[in-house]
Amino acid sequence: MRRATTLWRAMPGRAASFPPTARPARLLPTAAIPSRIERPPETCQGYPHLHASARMPDSPAPSFHHKPLTGPEDLALFGAPPVFDTPRHVNRPAAPDRAAFDAMMDAVWERRWFTNDGPLVQELERRLSAFLDVPHCVLTSNATAGLDLVMQCLGIRGEVLLPSYTFISTAHLLALRGLTPVFCEVGTDMALDPADAAARLTERTDAVVATHVWGSPCDIDGLGALCDAAGIPLLFDAAHAFGARHQGHPLGRFGRAEVFSLHATKAFHTCEGGLITTCDAALADQLRLARNFGFSGSDRVDCTGVNAKMSELHAAMGLANLDAFPATRAAARAVHAAYRDGLAGLTGLRLKCPPAAEDNNHHYVVAEVDARAFGLTRDRLVELLTAEGIWARRYFFPGGHRSPPHAAANPGLSLPRTEALCDRVMLLPGGGAADLAEVAEICRMIRFVAGSAAAIHNAGKAG
Ligand SMILES: Cc1ncc(COP(=O)(O)O)c(C=O)c1O
Repeated sequence: MRRATTLWRAMPGRAASFPPTARPARLLPTAAIPSRIERPPETCQGYPHLHASARMPDSPAPSFHHKPLTGPEDLALFGAPPVFDTPRHVNRPAAPDRAAFDAMMDAVWERRWFTNDGPLVQELERRLSAFLDVPHCVLTSNATAGLDLVMQCLGIRGEVLLPSYTFISTAHLLALRGLTPVFCEVGTDMALDPADAAARLTERTDAVVATHVWGSPCDIDGLGALCDAAGIPLLFDAAHAFGARHQGHPLGRFGRAEVFSLHATKAFHTCEGGLITTCDAALADQLRLARNFGFSGSDRVDCTGVNAKMSELHAAMGLANLDAFPATRAAARAVHAAYRDGLAGLTGLRLKCPPAAEDNNHHYVVAEVDARAFGLTRDRLVELLTAEGIWARRYFFPGGHRSPPHAAANPGLSLPRTEALCDRVMLLPGGGAADLAEVAEICRMIRFVAGSAAAIHNAGKAG
């Protein structure tokens, strides 16, 4: 072993299998790495056709101005009233059945047990284990804290490979932990490209953190082969991917551990929260200690740790949302299909449609704008939509390797495929809590903008 896991050392009586023992040689010739199984660029061909009229019970009554659209003067950016008076956000949080939540709150009040591994947290962990078909679920205060605990418990040091095209939290936590984030390229699926990761793997690489971006599994098999050959742990940032599947299995049991975000904007949420899933019992035990200051008893501390616990209030939200999740996922799928229909055939705007639709949670509506073909840049389109109350968002902008402070640590690093995505991708209001009539209105607006691109361009110049 090149280094000991500090936390592990402090834990008497643990099974000898943790942490892993010998690792094979760390520096692999790129040729030895199995090449990525090339996936075709994602298209909407063959995507199941859905005409759902269902609305989630908590969806707002559609409220928008169905204004005439004849020229640039009808756009809010040029002074007309907006389509939506109140902003439509990219992922409106699902709100579960209030009566069920209140009943759980009554019981919490009665018990006066608000946090510290309470019965609702325990029940949610049990139910999530069954739902995701994974032996160990460890709830945390958020996903960032959860991934940080995994890094601590595995004793990760040195360099960690990650995609630059992901949420900035991972790069930040690695840097804060004294690790070196090594930014890698994406493949055609927008997720970490194993071939590019292989090319950046060195003696110092200690782990790979790959993101199941936009609710689809990343190349689990390709990355698994890479990490197995290098003898390093593969971890998944599954923040986007609750309810998604790989080869028929729910995500949660792959790699050494997967970390889901249960933030309010996610497909399944607890307001704020995180979920670590793993098949490794010893790691799960470690994580439980580390999320509670290292306490193994009321006054016994076995290891270093922080406060990364989930409260009973958050767990109640999760239990109520879990009951509603199948309906939420079906509604998200209908919303996604409505966008697919509403934006079909538009030149220069491509909706990301997962090739294996059954495997995706359909929580994200992701569009790529080719400025030349569309007639306007992605940023201009976002600006026009935002003025209409349609708060489309650039993601992930500008990309990890171009964001402070990581840009300064990586001068001259060029990741052209990532940069193209950062400059072209936007998210539209989607997910199970979006409203289908509003989606139709958003599509109508985007079609109008596409058809009037030249006039809008000229009006902008004149203004
Ligand atoms: C891909 C990804 N990873 C990690 C996170 C961080 O999750 P949390 O806010 O629960 O810490 C997010 C949050 O949006 C995310 O999108």
